[in-house]
Amino acid sequence: MRIDILTVLPAMLEGFVNESILARAQKKGLAEIHLHNLRDYTTDKWRRVDDYPYGGFAGMVMQCEPIDRAISALKAERDYDEVIFTSPDGEQFDQHIANDLSLKGNIIILCGHYKGIDHRIREHLITREISIGDYVLTGGELAAAVMADAIVRIIPGVVGDEQSALSDCFQDNMLSAPIYTRPADYKGWKVPDILLSGNEAKIKDWEIEQSYERTRRLRPDLLDNL
Ligand code: ADE
Repeated sequence: MRIDILTVLPAMLEGFVNESILARAQKKGLAEIHLHNLRDYTTDKWRRVDDYPYGGFAGMVMQCEPIDRAISALKAERDYDEVIFTSPDGEQFDQHIANDLSLKGNIIILCGHYKGIDHRIREHLITREISIGDYVLTGGELAAAVMADAIVRIIPGVVGDEQSALSDCFQDNMLSAPIYTRPADYKGWKVPDILLSGNEAKIKDWEIEQSYERTRRLRPDLLDNL
């Protein structure tokens, strides 16, 4: 899959795209992430991407033109399944949305900034608005990074162990069971005996029971959606 991220702060995402799980996915040829500086699509010598809002409101607003030019340039090269805008008033990002987006071919993520973007962009070019939580960030870059990470890591082959991403917390609307590694006894803190028993069927039952118990205790709301 291919993700094109439009931002006024590409430097903020460069390290992330080239170092994290995204770098690994790209090396394996399983995903492509491209960063685009919206200022490259301006036409004035100051490379302005924002202006004052009509109506005398406070703050600055991202203008239509650079965003429209950037999205049009990308769409001229290939088809896109979604043009996503990161916004605190969008639908709340979760594992289901990550799963859904990971099945897409090409997506654009537009990072919001300043007070917002000219509403005509939202009406005419954006297909989906997504929030990563009920709080306001200074810009959409961190939201784009969160989404790209969650989307790309579940593409088959990106995480080493194929089963690993599928058994993640939240994949079945359940938290994961506790997990342990060697030594079996650390300062008297013991790994549950069942995990050392070698009895695969019993271990599976234990895992399901633990997963359910942790979900009921820590995130009972998830069980309402089962
Ligand atoms: N931009 C600002 N706040 C945001 C949020 N919570 N989610 C997505 N994009 C944002």
